[in-house]
Amino acid sequence: MTNIILLGPPGAGKGTQATLLKEKYKFHHISTGDLIRYEIQNNTILGKKLKEFSSKGLLVPDSMVIDILKNAIENIRYNSDRSLLFDGFPRTVEQHKQLELLLKDYNEKIDCVFYFKIEEDVVVKRLSGRRLCPKCNIIYHIETKPSKAGMYCEQCNEKLIQRDDDKEKAIRERLSEYNNKTTPLLKLYRDSYILVEVDASKKPEEIFKDLSNKLTNLLDY
Ligand code: AP5
Repeated sequence: MTNIILLGPPGAGKGTQATLLKEKYKFHHISTGDLIRYEIQNNTILGKKLKEFSSKGLLVPDSMVIDILKNAIENIRYNSDRSLLFDGFPRTVEQHKQLELLLKDYNEKIDCVFYFKIEEDVVVKRLSGRRLCPKCNIIYHIETKPSKAGMYCEQCNEKLIQRDDDKEKAIRERLSEYNNKTTPLLKLYRDSYILVEVDASKKPEEIFKDLSNKLTNLLDY
């Protein structure tokens, strides 16, 4: 079992690569962003609280997101021992500590962290053009990956949406949250020798090739 984290700023392409990696390597993909949006879309009591933070581009408080993640891992581990692919978690040092403790309960650990390295002005362009299928979570981009069905999802025909937090003000806030609260994790993982840098400015298929090569070495090892 090899548990992987995808770490990097908003819009670096973590979700795009996670979709490809889970197909090829049969990972369980855990995106805290998707889990949070699910609660918000379903207008649950929890979703209403989460929206107050995420629509503004702020990180959700650690205690809330850790509960969500704990549930997700417990559900997965109830009937599967497949490797986990974390996308968007952890994002603070406290989340990292809690994840280590959670995995320890299953005699597991974090094996590798792929750091998506990219310039800020590139991610701003990527995020402002992103469109999302609210039903099947497929990620599009108005310029680099438009849907063949125009404003609708080419897979399920649902109308595509722009995320609330993909508006300029929220994008700036998310980048600031990333710089202040998430970047300390880079040093932590680099010092543990599990950080692997990926050039996230390349084309999606090139990044996927790099990740696959790195993963193949890791899985062989
Ligand atoms: P989350 O959904 O995790 O958002 P994020 O980390 O900000 O990441 P994104 O989904 O915006 O970007 P991505 O790196 O996945 O890029 P993508 O592949 O989509 O979190 C949202 C919110 O939830 C947070 O702000 C917070 O409020 C809350 N939250 C979530 N987790 C939390 C946590 N752990 N703690 C606290 N709060 C939490 O690509 C972006 C666009 O670029 C797409 O249009 C895509 O088509 C395009 N693209 C992708 N790759 C390329 C490429 N190589 N070249 C050109 N275009 C590309």
